[in-house]
Amino acid sequence: MTNVLAFVSIKGGVGKTTLALETASSLANDFGKKVLLVDANFSAPNIGLYLDLTNETTLHDALDGTLLHNAIYEAHGIDVIPASMNYHKEVDPFKLKKILNKFKNRYDFIILDSSPNYEELKPVITAADKIFLVTSPDNVTLTTTLKAAQIARDQNTPIEGIIVNKIRSPKHEYNLEEIETISDVPVLARIRDHKKIAHAAHQKTPITVFDSANTISREIKRFASSICGSPEKNGFFQKLLPFKTIFQKEKVNRELLREKFYKSQI
Ligand SMILES: Nc1ncnc2c1ncn2[C@@H]1O[C@H](COP(=O)(O)OP(=O)(O)O)[C@@H](O)[C@H]1O
Ligand SMILES: [Mg+2]
Repeated sequence: MTNVLAFVSIKGGVGKTTLALETASSLANDFGKKVLLVDANFSAPNIGLYLDLTNETTLHDALDGTLLHNAIYEAHGIDVIPASMNYHKEVDPFKLKKILNKFKNRYDFIILDSSPNYEELKPVITAADKIFLVTSPDNVTLTTTLKAAQIARDQNTPIEGIIVNKIRSPKHEYNLEEIETISDVPVLARIRDHKKIAHAAHQKTPITVFDSANTISREIKRFASSICGSPEKNGFFQKLLPFKTIFQKEKVNRELLREKFYKSQI
């Protein structure tokens, strides 16, 4: 069964696009899944820029009546639908759910990137089967992320968990337990602020492809593995030195997610 998964937050710059893109890449390239990545940030899309795609035909055209098929481009093993930054006509973003429905049986996963704009987020949450919240571990971002959680709850779209991104200084930021207590949502991945992300973005290549052994790539792969229901493998050095650095101290429990997704797919 296809899952439509949306990565959401009500704040720009927290990593929604990066994590939607990287999760899509890992599901496709590490786990052999057929993945469609959709740029559902209607007013300020940037998946096309991240992947260096021409966006002659876009999601906006599809919302305007063009066959969705014509807006699909291939990049790094993923099928991608970019959006237009300057579409000349008004489109109805609530049509997203309907046009994606026709493509559901062609993919294992459809991943939606989203806008931080409150009004633009609603059609994305409506189109999604499940939501991943994206936050950084600071008060301001977490508070706004909880607003996105409220929209999902109001629309009865299940929130699967939070991805904590851009961890800089764990001593001076919320820890995982605090984030789970404040949000009442499990933390599913914790990702450091890492300069290699900028390097990968500059190369217009997902970090999971550009540097698959990188610590960020490995955490994304573990997160993607739980979405697939695949067992989590710890690397050789992780087994030897499980608590070597402060960034490895807290462990994320993905077992619940793994079980739920696995069961929903069989
Ligand atoms: N873990 C990270 N470490 C370093 N830079 C990151 C990380 N995650 C995202 N970025 C960078 O932060 C910026 C904003 O990320 P982006 O995914 O576009 O956020 P959003 O979609 O939420 O606005 C981009 O330049 C991206 O490369
Ligand atoms: Mg974005």
